[in-house]
Amino acid sequence: MRVSWAQLADQVSGCTACALCEGCIQKVLGQGDPKAPLMLIGEGPGEQEDKRGEAFVGRAGELLTNMLAAIDLPRERVYICNAVKCRPPQNRTPRPDELDACRPHLLRQIALVKPKVIFLLGATAVRVMLGPNYRITQCRGQWYQRGDIRIMATFHPAALLRDPRRKHETWADLKMVRKELLQQGAYPDLLS
Ligand code: URA
Repeated sequence: MRVSWAQLADQVSGCTACALCEGCIQKVLGQGDPKAPLMLIGEGPGEQEDKRGEAFVGRAGELLTNMLAAIDLPRERVYICNAVKCRPPQNRTPRPDELDACRPHLLRQIALVKPKVIFLLGATAVRVMLGPNYRITQCRGQWYQRGDIRIMATFHPAALLRDPRRKHETWADLKMVRKELLQQGAYPDLLS
C-alpha cells in the first residue's frame, strides 16, 4: 500500500499490531531528511528515544552522529529510524513476531524515502532487512541489493560502546558507504 508521510505517521501512532505499544511512552517513527540518499536502520527506541520521540538520541546516538561526521555527513542530511517503533521493555531485543508486526511500517518508510543506500545498524536490522539466517559478523562490510537499493550492515553503535575493538571494522564499512554514495552522485555538496 502506497501511503503519504502523514498517513504513515497516523498508522504508526495508532498501531496496536503487537504488545510493545502498551509499554512505551510514545512511538518513534524516525527523523532526518525524508528524501535522504542514505537511510540508517537501528533496532528500536531506548529510554531516551522513548522520552524524546526521536531515534538515536542517547549515548549510541551520540556515537552515530560522530560516525556520520567522520564520513562528512551531518545527521540531519540522512534519514534515521528503527526496526520497531515502540521501546521494548527493559530495552530487550524485539522478538521475531514484533519485528514482523512492525515490518510493514518500515517498508512503507523505505518506499517514501527511496534511499540509494541503506546502512543496517546491528543484528536486528539485519534480521529484518536481509533475513533470519544472516549473521552480523558474517554479512557486515558486504554489499547486498534489494531492488534499486544497495544495503550494507555494520555493528550497532551500542555494541561498539561495549566493545570498541570493533570500531575499525565499522570504520571500514563507513568508508565503503561513503564511496558508494559518491559513486552514485549523492550529496554532491558534501562528498568529493
Ligand atoms: N538503539 C537503537 O537501535 N535505536 C535507537 O533509536 C537508540 C538506540
